[in-house]
Amino acid sequence: MNRRTFVKLVGAYAPAFALPQQLLANSNDTIKPIVISTWEPNKKANAKAWEILSAHGSALDAVHQGVMVPEADPDDHSVGLGGHPDRDGHVTCDACIMDHLANIGSVMCLEHIVHAVSVARLVMEKTPHVQLVGEGALQFALLNGFKKENLLTPKSEADWKKWLKTSKYDPMTTVRDIEKRIKESHDTIGMIALDENNNLSGACTTSGMAYKLPGRVGDSPIIGAGLYVDNEVGGASATGVGEEVVRICGSHTIVEAMRHGKSPKEACKLAIERLIKIKGAEKAKEIQLGFIAINKSGEIGCYSMLPEFTMAVHSAKGEQIINSDYFFESSIKK
Ligand code: GLY
Repeated sequence: MNRRTFVKLVGAYAPAFALPQQLLANSNDTIKPIVISTWEPNKKANAKAWEILSAHGSALDAVHQGVMVPEADPDDHSVGLGGHPDRDGHVTCDACIMDHLANIGSVMCLEHIVHAVSVARLVMEKTPHVQLVGEGALQFALLNGFKKENLLTPKSEADWKKWLKTSKYDPMTTVRDIEKRIKESHDTIGMIALDENNNLSGACTTSGMAYKLPGRVGDSPIIGAGLYVDNEVGGASATGVGEEVVRICGSHTIVEAMRHGKSPKEACKLAIERLIKIKGAEKAKEIQLGFIAINKSGEIGCYSMLPEFTMAVHSAKGEQIINSDYFFESSIKK
C-alpha cells in the first residue's frame, strides 16, 4: 500500500506534548559546562564531549571530539564511515566547526575521509580560508596526514543497491528517503557546548541526504545554516532537510532571535514558523526539520516541524534526552 501522511496542525498547542524534562530544559534552570546534540543516539557523542568539559577542557575540543564519535561509527548511516552514499554510490561528507572567537572552518562534499570535522578544524586553524570543497578538500586532508579510506561499508552499499532497484532516480525521492531515515534512526549531528570558562563552540557533521545528486551540499557545513555560535548570545544547530534550513539561514536566525530576547526554545520555534510562512503549511508539513539551541546562560531548547525529533543533553546532572515539541502532528502510515 502507498505511504500516506496524515497531518494535523497543532501549532500553539504543542506545549501539551511537553515532557517533564522539556519543562526543565526550557526553563531558567541553567548549568555549565553543558553539551547538547541533535538526536538521542548522539548521547554517545555527548559522553565524549562531557569527558573533555568535565576535565576543564574547552568547548571547542569537546564538540570536535564529540562529533568524531558518530563519524567513526559504521552503524551510524547519517555521518562519516558507513554513511549513505549519493545516488552514484559515493559517500561524500559535509562538516563545519565554529569557536567562541567566531573562527570558522568547513568542508563540503569531501570523500574518503572519516573525520570531516577534523579537516574542517584544520581549515579553520591552518588556512586563510573558511571553506574547502570536493577534490581540493580531499587533497588538503591528504597533505595534512589524513588517511584515504572507503566509507561505503557493506551495509550502506547493500542499502544503496536496494534503493537503486526500487527507487525513482529523482531528487524528490531522496527528500522522502531522508524523512524515512530520520524516522528510522537519526540524521546529522549538530553539537554545541558551553565550557567552564563560559565559552561556546559548535560542530556539525553529516554524510548528507541519502542518495542525493552527486555534488549536493546541504545545510550542515554552511555557517549560519547548519550551525552558528555567537559567544555573546548563544549557539544553534540544525538537522533535517538541509535545503530548507539553508533557505532561512536557520541557525543564524535562531541566534539573532535569542539576541533579541527569545528563549532558546522560542527562537527555534520562530525559525520553524518562518519556514512555514515561506513555504505555506501544506508544503511545510511534509518537511522534517529540527533545531537545538543554547544561550549564554546555559539555558537550552529545541523545536521541530514534525514529531519524533530528540535532543541529547549532558551536564553535571548527567545525561538527559528531550523529546522536542513540534509544530505539526504527523503520522506516516504504510
Ligand atoms: N541536514 C543534513 C543535510 O540535509 O545534508
